[in-house]
Amino acid sequence: MARNPRYDLLFEPVRIGPVTARNRFYAVPHAAGMTNSMPHMRAAFRGVKAEGGWGVVCTGYVSIDPGSDDAPLPYATLWDDADVRSHALVTEAVHRHGALAGIELWHGGGSVMNRSSRIAPMSPSGTSWMATHVSFMGNQRPRAMDAGDIRALLAAQRAAARRARQAGFDIVYVYAGMGYLPYEFLLPEWNRRTDGYGGSLANRARIVRELLEVTHEAVGGKCAVALRVSLEELRGRPGAHAASEAHELVALLADLPDLWDVKLDSSPTDCPPSRFAPEGSHEPVIDFVKKLTAKPVVGVGRFTSPDTMLSQIRRGVLDLIGAARPSIADPFLPRKIEEGREAEIRECIGCNICISSWHDGVPVRCTQNPTIGEEWRRGWHPEQIAAAGSTASVLVVGAGPAGLECALSLGRRGYEVTVAEAADDIGGRLRFETRLPGLAAWARVLEWRRAQLDKLPNVTVYRGNLLSADDVLGLGATHVVVATGARWARLLYSPLEVPAGSLDGPGVLTPDDLAAGVVPEDPVVVYDFDNYYLGGVLAEHLARGGHSVSYVTPAGHVSAWTIMSNEQPQVHRALAAAGVSRHTLARVTAFGAGAVTLADQFTNAETRLECRALVIVGTRFGNDRLYGDLSGRAEELADAGIRSLTRIGDALAPGAIVHAVYSGHRYARELDADPAALGIRRDAPLAAVP
Ligand SMILES: Cc1cc2nc3c(=O)[nH]c(=O)nc-3n(C[C@H](O)[C@H](O)[C@H](O)COP(=O)(O)O)c2cc1C
Ligand code: SF4
Repeated sequence: MARNPRYDLLFEPVRIGPVTARNRFYAVPHAAGMTNSMPHMRAAFRGVKAEGGWGVVCTGYVSIDPGSDDAPLPYATLWDDADVRSHALVTEAVHRHGALAGIELWHGGGSVMNRSSRIAPMSPSGTSWMATHVSFMGNQRPRAMDAGDIRALLAAQRAAARRARQAGFDIVYVYAGMGYLPYEFLLPEWNRRTDGYGGSLANRARIVRELLEVTHEAVGGKCAVALRVSLEELRGRPGAHAASEAHELVALLADLPDLWDVKLDSSPTDCPPSRFAPEGSHEPVIDFVKKLTAKPVVGVGRFTSPDTMLSQIRRGVLDLIGAARPSIADPFLPRKIEEGREAEIRECIGCNICISSWHDGVPVRCTQNPTIGEEWRRGWHPEQIAAAGSTASVLVVGAGPAGLECALSLGRRGYEVTVAEAADDIGGRLRFETRLPGLAAWARVLEWRRAQLDKLPNVTVYRGNLLSADDVLGLGATHVVVATGARWARLLYSPLEVPAGSLDGPGVLTPDDLAAGVVPEDPVVVYDFDNYYLGGVLAEHLARGGHSVSYVTPAGHVSAWTIMSNEQPQVHRALAAAGVSRHTLARVTAFGAGAVTLADQFTNAETRLECRALVIVGTRFGNDRLYGDLSGRAEELADAGIRSLTRIGDALAPGAIVHAVYSGHRYARELDADPAALGIRRDAPLAAVP
């Protein structure tokens, strides 16, 4: 198909200093958890984005010196020749598909603990970052930098920039964002220096200026020099000569970088979940930058709609459309627009599972795109899949996230697929959950698959079909896939921190009851030891629906795991705003006579809380009745011509939507595949030069 001429503007080349991007699609720096320890996986991952049409593909944050060590978080390094060779794999993969390669050189300053290198960390004035997120807590405070440290920092940037050029990068960054060292110089809370690097904004910005100068010097006009900077705090501070300190900073450095890459200051605001921020949420902070510089400006904002992108450029907000998450959810987003297939874009849902994989220190995962991170080690391409290995037919029982992804990928391979869904529509848990506050964008998981399935004549979907084991035997498919989801249990939580004991009886509910339309009697207690989004979001939903709601959890925070997905600060605010009372470090031990009994998780001290309906969001078990019935009838399965019976998704091991989609995809990839080609190829770091 031809590109819609309306989007031509998005495909104009953009000059960035000495290099030219082929279009305005810019995959901004984002870590992918692979680091230099998995160089082939990392190169293949970045290469696929270039193949998908991005004009520029950047690395994640890359340490310039062992004194900037973020272990155990997955950061990359550019310290020596082995690192140069490792990054050269990335630049080769990116160049092979006609994109420019950018590298974000990084020093963490007082925000890193140097846990691995054991070098005393440093910051402008010895100030440390006291995070509420335990992963970022440490107990060594940084030392205050002296003049020698500043010289050493500039030398490290210069040397790393030279290595970056040697590795073949086209764009080399100075990174002054998100609590890291150059950013620390910009803010007076971090920077209490009385020398030429502290005090006025011009002095506080001096280190950024000098970093840009040494980077220019090191790359000798062969690479563009970009500045990535966080502007949220500075925009909130009145300037001495302009609307804000952010305006002053941009005016001061205006044309020194070849490219401005502008972002916000903390991960929850820079990379906010869709639950709390719409597409384009950065605009009010960064909208002024282009007015103060002649150099191109790239910014982000979970851009997936080509019309929003167009609007940002037409209105003079941005020159280049930056993306981290949209490029993960669909590495082929630019190509799809270019080929007039924008309706096929697999849009990011803003769930932030990807950022949770960075917090976990593992290769990136994505709810929408199960192939991400698997390009090299499993050989999974986001847009290509092997043709069917046989003429087998497949029956998929259940059309939730796992069943849908499985059926779609099998259908693309060319198998004859029948999907049987017991409910009157497909979607499984998504049908209820996407109606909860802030989760509407998650419906993209269902709607994208629905639209793609509709195009496949070899996939037939039956709704309102609850199959028994006899029905399955009678259908005569070659392979049967059980994707029947999971159900919530009424188990409680023990002082040993395992689900144990249970509550039954009137007023004891689970999310399944609410999904089925049960209206709880007031006051309601939502008791959450699942710790992901659902407990918090149900409490918010009930409170917004007029119920009197308390939220109780044995964890120390509301929706404790959502610290991993950048949601937790906003979850606390949302529950407070909805009038939900919050009780942390508390276990429910009994329910009756209009109250629940709570025990303090650590002291066991008891209190009572008024309650007529208790919603337990604790643990789930797979719906395995059908699987159990069938697996006990092996001979009949064989007689019916059924060669395999497999559980996938929540029916196998209940998890988040990301796990279900991955499980369905993996089944589809592996059906009839050569057993020798299955499994994970093992990557290894390139050897350091002795
Ligand atoms: C998994 C992940 C890793 C990230 N790592 C980095 C990083 O290494 N350096 C950086 O400057 N920003 C990093 N970011 C932030 C993104 O570059 C970007 O500013 C943010 O995600 C907002 O853009 P988006 O809405 O297009 O995702 C990361 C974001 C994600 C999702
Ligand atoms: S994990 Fe979620 S937020 Fe991240 S890219 Fe995928 S869909 Fe988007």
